[in-house]
Amino acid sequence: MNNLKRLAALALALCMSTAMLTACGGSSTGSVSDDSTEASEETEATQDDAATQETDSEALVMATNATFPPYEYVEGSEYEGIDVEIAGKIAEKLGRTLDIKDVEFDSIIGGVQSGKYDMGMAGMTVTDERKQSVNFSESYATGIQSVIVAQDSEIASVDDLSSDTRIGVQQGTTGDIYASDDYGADAVTAFKNGADATQALLTGKVDCVIIDNEPAKAFVAANEGLKILDTSYTEEEYAICVSKENEELLDEINGALEELKADGSIDEIIEKYIPSDAQ
Ligand code: ARG
Repeated sequence: MNNLKRLAALALALCMSTAMLTACGGSSTGSVSDDSTEASEETEATQDDAATQETDSEALVMATNATFPPYEYVEGSEYEGIDVEIAGKIAEKLGRTLDIKDVEFDSIIGGVQSGKYDMGMAGMTVTDERKQSVNFSESYATGIQSVIVAQDSEIASVDDLSSDTRIGVQQGTTGDIYASDDYGADAVTAFKNGADATQALLTGKVDCVIIDNEPAKAFVAANEGLKILDTSYTEEEYAICVSKENEELLDEINGALEELKADGSIDEIIEKYIPSDAQ
């Protein structure tokens, strides 16, 4: 795949205001113990759904970065989103409670490797490089990279991106990695989350944001004056990462995912947050 095509795959977007979060809807599946929605400090939430209350259940600790609607985000005092709900169902099948740690995206893999977290689930794309550090479960969803620009932008397609374009990304994401590969690190500004990158786009500090398509849509919907480039996208696979030392957990997660796919639960959760009639 050539660079432009790959870049075309880059999606972008972000802007995670409370208003936007509210617009995302969804049911409550985990509470935030700390008011802060910042991911810089680890905040914790324990999923208290009755269904997850098993006797003697050791918590399944999930690292995520809850700035990524509709996969994981904070609404009020709750963690919500596709990953949060799927993780809740996996924990339930494993007879464990779910303990969500909201951390910086680029600290998830290291924390999983060191055993600080049992698994990482954060709309995380499977890449060969990451596979050298952690194992990935079967994929449970697909993502696409998109490019967000201002409505009146001179950037009309991915072909207009160059090493002179000021590109905003979320640090450590595939958007960051691909854009840096294709246009050089100097063209890329990495932000802590997509919302910050989107704010930078709104204030003209960057010319575009490359981010996954569904968060891109959420950020564009939450902010006036932005659009997503209509371009040929590249698909990515989202999966859960687990320490290479913990094959047993990987097998358990894959078993749970298989059942949740077979009984329609995963489709149902995805449809709830990404209704197919709105595509
Ligand atoms: N899919 C992209 C990646 O794996 C971005 C994921 C960002 N996720 C998040 N929860 N902030 O690099």
